[in-house]
Formats: sequence, structure tokens, C-alpha cells
Amino acid sequence: MYRNKKINIAIVGLGNIGINLYSHLIKNKKNIIKKNNINFDIKYVSAKNKNKKRKIKIPKKKWLKNYLQAAKLKDIDIVIELMGGSQGPAKKLVFTAIKNGKHVVTANKALISKYGDILSLLAEKKKVNLEFEAAVAGGIPIIRTLKEGLIANKAQRIYGILNGTSNYILSNMDKLKIDFKSVLEKAKKLGYAESNPNSDLNGEDVKSKIQILSSLAFNCFINKSKINLEGINNIDDIDIINADNLGYKIKHIGLSEIENGKLIQRVHPCLIKKESQISNVNGVLNAVIIEGKPIGKFVLKGEGAGPGPTTSALVSDICSVLRGNLKFPFSVSHANRKKIAPLDISNKIFSSYLRLDVIDKKGVLSSITKVLSKNKISIKRLIQNPFKGKKSASIIIISHKAKNKNLVKCINQLNRNNFILKKAKFIRIEEI
Ligand SMILES: NC(=O)c1ccc[n+]([C@@H]2O[C@H](COP(=O)([O-])OP(=O)(O)OC[C@H]3O[C@@H](n4cnc5c(N)ncnc54)[C@H](OP(=O)(O)O)[C@@H]3O)[C@@H](O)[C@H]2O)c1
Repeated sequence: MYRNKKINIAIVGLGNIGINLYSHLIKNKKNIIKKNNINFDIKYVSAKNKNKKRKIKIPKKKWLKNYLQAAKLKDIDIVIELMGGSQGPAKKLVFTAIKNGKHVVTANKALISKYGDILSLLAEKKKVNLEFEAAVAGGIPIIRTLKEGLIANKAQRIYGILNGTSNYILSNMDKLKIDFKSVLEKAKKLGYAESNPNSDLNGEDVKSKIQILSSLAFNCFINKSKINLEGINNIDDIDIINADNLGYKIKHIGLSEIENGKLIQRVHPCLIKKESQISNVNGVLNAVIIEGKPIGKFVLKGEGAGPGPTTSALVSDICSVLRGNLKFPFSVSHANRKKIAPLDISNKIFSSYLRLDVIDKKGVLSSITKVLSKNKISIKRLIQNPFKGKKSASIIIISHKAKNKNLVKCINQLNRNNFILKKAKFIRIEEI
């Protein structure tokens, strides 16, 4: 016998994700009811343009006059926000829905990374669930894993490949030996990159995701400052080839760790040994790795975005709400979430890959080594590749470990020299 109450759902936003979710819930309704032992209905939907042609026809009676009605009508139990954006309608809808005692499911990492703390406190006060599994790593159930499966653990570090678009670009630059621009065009044609892929390429998307993951892994409030943020825009195909020749792959990672009681969050490309598990996560795949006690190292890998994987995560959230039980959005109650001070990476130690395209003349190498030694950076390996027919060369240096601030200072000083033909490259080497 199913529990008597029927749960009414409103889906707001019927774009890439919303329409896929709607169609999945319609097709799999019976199965979902069976699995959760409770009946539900998609009572209402909303989108910006009611007359837009969509993949599936939606009965007229389901359309709300205005998206905000989803947060106000008495006969709605769960609001699913799939509009996106950290401000405007998405923010208004989620805040109003929770204030009015409705459960909320969202895939909106921008909103959660910005307002997650205040929203979760509000949800706690209003005794409703706020679920956002789809906001991080698409189909990979990392949030529920942190909140439930790994509850016994004390996390030390959480990191991963968290953006499918940038991973697709880096791994195809490597596989096809073509440049960034050509792969980006290909990714756009295949639908792996949006027409405006800025937040994927400049690391902003990963930053939101790592902020949410840190908060769940370390039971702390969302930390918004001192985050090192670098995207993949400056990676050249020659860097990928050089890395390959040296035994590395270039990957874009988001990483969060506790060091001396402080939280370090960083997003940047890095060289990783080819044998590492994370080096072999290619294409649009994502991977998240948690290091903690007593589990040790735990890896989750899968499709990080797209309608299918995102729908999988959303349905998991909807089922969690249908089954009942109140859960704290960030695993523990507001009172038990900690304030952890952030720490920037200036004193963190990295070995690094440096590439200097220089005029090939006497004295250049000694000038370079002088700048390095002035900044306490010692050379582990140096390769000089002359450019055929030109009086110039590419110098590749693998440095021993040095402080991040010294590496950055060194690069800035090198860039001021006339013998540098193109802005020097600096990519950290990561032992993960
Ligand atoms: N795409 C992915 O692979 C993916 C993966 C994980 C998470 N997400 C997240 O999922 C969310 C939705 O992404 P998406 O790719 O589906 O976006 P999308 O294709 O741009 O769809 C956005 C939807 O919101 C509707 N909308 C915009 N403003 C509105 C308003 N004022 N009132 C009512 N509806 C409004 C649009 O209506 P119209 O259709 O009428 O224009 C559209 O249906 C975002 O938070 C995104 O970050 C996406």
C-alpha cells in the first residue's frame, strides 16, 4: 500500500535540463512511485516563454501564469528550480519557496555557492529539505556520498576534475594534437561547450563546485575568499606536448584541503604524472577524490554534465524528499557547521613547469638562472628546443619545490626581460 498523501511538484525552467527531467518523471512515474512508496504528480511547470517549441508537449493546465506562483501556491510541495543564475528569478524563487515551507531541489551551483549558508539555515528553520546533488559533478552522486555513505570519515582533502568542457578540451588537445581554439570549436559543435563557455574555461564553474564540496567535506560554512582561481585559457598545445614528453598530462583541477587548521581552496591547471588515476579521466568525464580517515582514498568517476546525468542526480534528490525525513542541506545543522579561516596559496610549495620562449643569444640562459636563484628556485631539469630557422628557442624548466609566491614573482621578473618573446608559462606540478 502506498502512503496516502500525494506530493505535488512544480518544475520551474524547461531548458536543457528541465525538459529532460519532466520527460523522465512522466515516463518513469510508476517506477518512482513504487520505489518510494508514495504517489506524486508534476502539477505545474513554468518557463520564460510559454509558446516556445519544446521536445515534449506539456498540457496547458500545468502552466503557471508566473514562475513565482510555484513558491506560493498552497498545492505545491516540492519546487524544482532549473533556471540557473545566482540572482534574479532563481534567487527569488528559492528564497520564497523555502520561506513558504516548500522543499526545494536545484541544480544551481552559482546560487548554492553564493547563498547556500543562508538558504540552509532558512530551510532548517522552516523544516524543509534543500537538495542540490545536481549542482556538483552532474551524475556523480558526490553530495549524497559525502552526507551519507562517507559519514564515518574525517576528510583531509577533496579534489577532482569538475568541469566536463575544460576536461574535454584538454584531453582532446592531447589526443588529437590540435590547438585550444580548434578543440573549443569542435566542443561547441558537439554540444560539449556552451556558446558562451567563459565560466567553464576561466574556472568560475569549478570554483563554485569546490566551495560546495569543501563545505560538505569539512562541515564548515562556505568560504568565499582567498581562493586561487585559474582557468585553462592559457594552455597551449605545445605545453600539452611538452608535458607528455616529460611523463605528465595537463589537467584542470579543483582542490580543497585543510592545512594547519586553515582551509585552502584552489582551482588551476596542473601537470599530473601519467600513471595517476586522475590523469586518465578524459573527455567530458568528471572525477572526485576524497582522502579521509578511515576510508583512505575514495574515487568517484562519471559523466559530469548534460541532461541525462543531471536528471539522474535530480531524481535522486526528488526521491530523497519523497521518502520523507528532514536532512540538513550541508549534512550537519547550522549550529554544528564550523568557521574555518581561509589561507591563500602564497606559502604553499610546488614544483613547477616553466616555459620560456626566448631570443637565442649569449647570456640569456645565465640571466634566467640568476632570476631563478634570486627567488630561491632550483632547477631539476632544463630542456632547450631551438625554433628551426629562427634565432629563438623554447626553454622548458622543471623546478624543484618552491613557494608559490616565489614562483609567481620569478615569472613576473622574467617577463620584464627583452629576451622573452612571449609571456612565460608557469604550471604547477601536482602529486595526486
Ligand atoms: N546543462 C547542464 O549540463 C547542467 C548540468 C548541471 C547543472 N546545470 C544547472 O541546471 C540549471 C539549468 O540549466 P539549463 O542548461 O537547463 O539552462 P537553460 O537551457 O538555459 O534553461 C533555463 C530555463 O529557465 C527558464 N527561465 C529563464 N528565466 C526565467 C524566468 N524569469 N521565469 C521562468 N523561467 C525562466 C528558461 O525559459 P525558456 O525555455 O522559455 O527560455 C529555460 O527553460 C542551471 O542552474 C545550470 O547551472 C546544468
